[in-house]
Amino acid sequence: MTKIPKIEFARRRTELMKQMGAGSIAIVPAAALSYRNSDVGHTYRQASNFQYLTGFPEPEGVAVLIPGRAQGEYVLFCRSRDPQIELWDGARAGQEGGISLYDANVALSIEDIDTQLPELMDGCERVFYGLGAEEAFDARVVGWINAVRARARQGANPPSQILDIAPMLSEMRLIKSPAEVSVMREASKLSAKAHVRAMASVQPGLYEYHLEAELRYAFSAGGARHTAYGSIVGAGANACVLHYVDNDKRIEDGDLVLIDAACELDCYASDITRTFPANGTFTAAQRALYQVVLDAQLAAIAQIKPGNHWNDVHDAAVRSLTTGLVALGLLEGDVDTLIADGTYKEFYMHTTGHWLGLDVHDVGRYKIEGAWRALEPGMVFTVEPGLYIAPDNRSVDPVWRGIGVRIEDVVVVTAEGAEVLTLQVAKEAHEIEALIKRAQTTAGSDRQAQRATAL
Ligand code: GLY
Ligand code: MN
Ligand code: MN
Repeated sequence: MTKIPKIEFARRRTELMKQMGAGSIAIVPAAALSYRNSDVGHTYRQASNFQYLTGFPEPEGVAVLIPGRAQGEYVLFCRSRDPQIELWDGARAGQEGGISLYDANVALSIEDIDTQLPELMDGCERVFYGLGAEEAFDARVVGWINAVRARARQGANPPSQILDIAPMLSEMRLIKSPAEVSVMREASKLSAKAHVRAMASVQPGLYEYHLEAELRYAFSAGGARHTAYGSIVGAGANACVLHYVDNDKRIEDGDLVLIDAACELDCYASDITRTFPANGTFTAAQRALYQVVLDAQLAAIAQIKPGNHWNDVHDAAVRSLTTGLVALGLLEGDVDTLIADGTYKEFYMHTTGHWLGLDVHDVGRYKIEGAWRALEPGMVFTVEPGLYIAPDNRSVDPVWRGIGVRIEDVVVVTAEGAEVLTLQVAKEAHEIEALIKRAQTTAGSDRQAQRATAL
């Protein structure tokens, strides 16, 4: 059971059905099982839209919503109870649990879907479905529509329209309720704690995966069973690889380490990046570049309030970064021109953030009718400017080469402005240095004490 109250799932289904209107049917499948090899499954993660509407955690489920249906608007197809299989794979809710625990009006066996779903579709003009997300399931939906068509002479009325369900659901998911923000606040707090733990563990000579292990420990110990995405731990020039996932290099004295990692709780993601010196002290070049990124991040966050627009945040970051790059001599020329012609993209090639929610790169439009959308309370997104100086960039002084810095926080738009959900992990350069030095000194005296005891 998730921390989102059951009444909220019911409200979401009601709102979706209101938008669909009478004469409609929505079909929303659970995520398919996937296998790592032979019969070893990948960790199961529920499909975000299915999770949003049902909270039902099992695979092999299909939620069907039929607004106005007298015998029940919410029909859930799910696995039947089976003591033999449950002995191996764990408990199932079954149809009884589908109703008593997850509020379905009617629960039917997934085994019967090929006969039951065409009957439910009969008489509905419109099918709302996320066509294109899961090819194998697309074919089944078409098969069910064809099954109704095949009975037209017996009086069946097949649907005449298939509509994408994604636009409606995406806009609903974009605005987070207080309960959703509260879960995301918790996921963020725990992710921040994991970053502090990893930062406090860094030592030259460790490998990147050692810090990944600290993150994983903190996530699991704090109650989060899953990461929100593959953790990125990049030391030295690996920090310049935006989606670095190897995490297998030795951390050298003098390296900066970039960690982009977070957990998910009840399927809601956090997303944090911090960059810090492996030996506890930034070099002058690292610190200068770090400060430019931090100033840009703070300038971007200052733009977040209802009524400002999505691009205001990115534009503020780009202006601040470009101004900083000129001040450091990494770019030459007029700031406006460097921005207008995109010269800064040599060092900053991604956008400043993305919606965050059930997906780490969450759903919801960024532009409406060609214009960047206005920020509204309940929107949650990341602010993550960075600078990446390629290790082989011959056009810059060698002192800058191979430095990568990104700083990323999660922000929720509030009625008054913004709340940063990930503040519990230091980001001022001097705070980071103090944290690492304190930890390294303690670790050093612990090692000395261990040696003394051994003697
Ligand atoms: N961790 C993925 C991202 O920051 O977008
Ligand atoms: Mn991000
Ligand atoms: Mn990230």
